[in-house]
Amino acid sequence: MEAAITDHLREGMEYERNRSGPPEHFPQLPDIPGGRYVDPQFLALEDAQLWKRSWLYAGHADELPEPGSFLMFTRTGSPIFLIRGKDLKVRAFYNTCRHRGGPLVKEACGHTRGLVCGYHGWTYDFEGKLINLRDKRDFVGLDMHRRGLIEVRCEQLGNWIFINEDPDAEPLLEHLGPIPEYFAQYDIDNIRFVKKDGVDVECNVKVLMDAFLEVYHLKSIHQHTVDRFLDHRGSKIVLWKNGHSLMLTPNRRPDWVDPGTVGMKQIPSVDELFAKNNPSFNLYPNLVTPMADSGMPFLLFWPTGPRSMRIECHWFAPDWGDGEPPALWETRIANFERILEEDTQFAPQIQKSVESPGFKGMPLNYQERRIYHWHEELDRRIGRERVPEPLRVTPVLHDFVEG
Ligand code: FES
Ligand SMILES: [Fe+2]
Repeated sequence: MEAAITDHLREGMEYERNRSGPPEHFPQLPDIPGGRYVDPQFLALEDAQLWKRSWLYAGHADELPEPGSFLMFTRTGSPIFLIRGKDLKVRAFYNTCRHRGGPLVKEACGHTRGLVCGYHGWTYDFEGKLINLRDKRDFVGLDMHRRGLIEVRCEQLGNWIFINEDPDAEPLLEHLGPIPEYFAQYDIDNIRFVKKDGVDVECNVKVLMDAFLEVYHLKSIHQHTVDRFLDHRGSKIVLWKNGHSLMLTPNRRPDWVDPGTVGMKQIPSVDELFAKNNPSFNLYPNLVTPMADSGMPFLLFWPTGPRSMRIECHWFAPDWGDGEPPALWETRIANFERILEEDTQFAPQIQKSVESPGFKGMPLNYQERRIYHWHEELDRRIGRERVPEPLRVTPVLHDFVEG
């Protein structure tokens, strides 16, 4: 990491710890309208303009170990699958046969020797080309070259694979701005997949997403866990273009080590500032990762309906050599799951609140400005003029966005 960046962050944490209020020109944040969590028209816009047009994390290269390995991805509502080709490149396609829409891939993941449609047997290669079809003589004028599978944008950050349904989206690495540079210290080309899991929660996806963008809640819901070792008031926040952000929260004591990580292999290239504090990145929209030099989870927030969501945890570790991941990982993940339960406990009740006349909107404080930044970006992506006026978020944070 460049010294100029780490110095800036270190000074930032120092500043936050000592300040007596928000910086002088920090604006009053207008209330976030509650309708953004329940209004069907708003949620339809969000679906079309955010979820179907964003770079979304889909899987790790280890989950597609050889040519023919595939992984289904249906989180945007569209049927998509990823497959590793004979050239070892991972591609994404709509799981939609060009004949009448039958599925090529029928399981969540696995390995296949060929892509054969379940309906009438049209066959495609791993690059999506239509290579065989039954009774071809009976299709008048059908040009096989024009009937390949429709590809979905698929790009990688290290071994992490992202998809985007928008064919015109800017390339992933450009879109992520400075994030790849921050991530490089974690030796991301060699980081390995450990496991993934998820839980369903009865709330709009944004209710829980918001909780992972601030540490203002530490003293209440994590009183006996995270709050004991993190100092929420020293948290340095960096807001980036395209809605991304970083929150670097200092450990209460410089020599503190997460007991769950003791004995775990460490990534030596991680800068001390990041190893000895708690950095949490948000890759807009729905990926939150608290990164440690012993590995990290990707927390992914997926809508499953207007009032329901699923939070997935994908775990990654530095290369452990042969065999299964070290047993220590089980304890580490179990510890984390307990904290996650603290985070999710109120979400269904908050959802009920936002749907009730008791909820008028939410006033956010300086420490919660990442939430406001997230919502500003949502309106930018939807197109402000499309958002019904009472549900709009006024952009006020532009002077506080870095780079
Ligand atoms: S729908 Fe695929 S072969 Fe007919
Ligand atoms: Fe939390």
